Amino acid sequence: MNIIVTGGAGFIGSNFIFYMRKKHPSYRIICLDKLTYAGNLSTLQPIMNQQNFRFVKGDICDRGAVDALFSEEHPDIVVNFAAESHVDRSIENPEIFLDTNIKGTAVLMDACRKYGIQRYHQVSTDEVYGDLPLDRPDLFFTEKTPLHTSSPYSASKAAADLLVQSYYRTYRLPVTISRCSNNYGPYHFPEKLIPLMIANALNDKPLPVYGKGENVRDWLYVEDHCKAIDLILHNGRVGEVYNIGGHNEMKNIDIVKIICKELGKPESLITFVSDRKGHDLRYAIDPSKIHSELGWLPDTSFSEGIHKTIQWYLEHREWWETIISGEYQTYYEKMVESRLYADKSLK
Ligand code: NAD
Ligand code: TYD
Repeated sequence: MNIIVTGGAGFIGSNFIFYMRKKHPSYRIICLDKLTYAGNLSTLQPIMNQQNFRFVKGDICDRGAVDALFSEEHPDIVVNFAAESHVDRSIENPEIFLDTNIKGTAVLMDACRKYGIQRYHQVSTDEVYGDLPLDRPDLFFTEKTPLHTSSPYSASKAAADLLVQSYYRTYRLPVTISRCSNNYGPYHFPEKLIPLMIANALNDKPLPVYGKGENVRDWLYVEDHCKAIDLILHNGRVGEVYNIGGHNEMKNIDIVKIICKELGKPESLITFVSDRKGHDLRYAIDPSKIHSELGWLPDTSFSEGIHKTIQWYLEHREWWETIISGEYQTYYEKMVESRLYADKSLK
């Protein structure tokens, strides 16, 4: 089985690659990643020279490069994680979100049509459903909830989902879509809530909470998301959407307080700052479809997952400190240079 994983140098994509290598060691995985600010090649270093793994630096919007890769590798499966993923950045500058998240999805699916594929899987988000009111805890997103987006990020992801469904209806491309709630865990880029708060707290810096911190997110440990995608790839029905979430709703402020407590840092670091524009109030997934059809349930509770995550950030300070210093962005160049150097010394 040949699988192209796009965006595999980012948070969820890298966790997915590690999960699949353990679960299906015979599968060949080809990671296609542009290495934007959010892609960190050092994450993949432990498997870089393994058999059955190949890293390719490239842009999913680049038709020529995508075509060349498909003609070389003839993938059986494509899992598309590659995206611009940060809501705040999409509010500042939407354009790149339209390019990567929408056009990139079309370019990948066109290559799938041209070369033939067993499955194209689109990694989407619960944010395509918009938000739910804070005073209606009885409401959840199901796969039938209308798309109703708030940010340029979520609008671009929803547009991609519609495009994926159109390729299924029009060209019978064998697609599936998953819409997951907020993930947390190792290798999460420290601009997102949980890793940002851990890194700032460890550096005794202010913890910026938007608005009153009352907004609710439904948090899932990243490995449980990876397990769900693996199940959808193997047992999911073509043309279907699967929501993924573990019924773990938390207010932002409560998460930040838990992080302070675990790290022994004072809550006086918490600083309320002006709210995000168009800030979604509450996300909450109804995961009954993936549970009843595919038997998926999360393995990791929030208390266990947040503890493991904080431990990971304590034990991997170098990983996030090089990101904060910006040094990680030179890693690819350094790696290429060291390879060139190694090749020369071989001659
Ligand atoms: P991330 O920002 O950590 O990683 C994105 C990766 O995509 C990076 O490695 C980046 O270099 C790569 N990339 C960006 N543009 C590219 C391009 N044009 N061509 C090739 N590679 C490119 O994101 P993440 O949090 O790992 O999210 C992965 C996917 O999961 C996204 O599609 C996101 O919408 C979705 N998702 C994320 C969450 C979450 O909580 N993080 C929840 C649900 C769904
Ligand atoms: P984020 O991690 O950006 O994920 P998303 O917006 O995709 O849900 O933010 C999670 C929540 O935390 C969201 O309600 C915004 C809030 N937030 C803060 O309060 N402070 C911060 O510094 C960040 C990055 C987010």
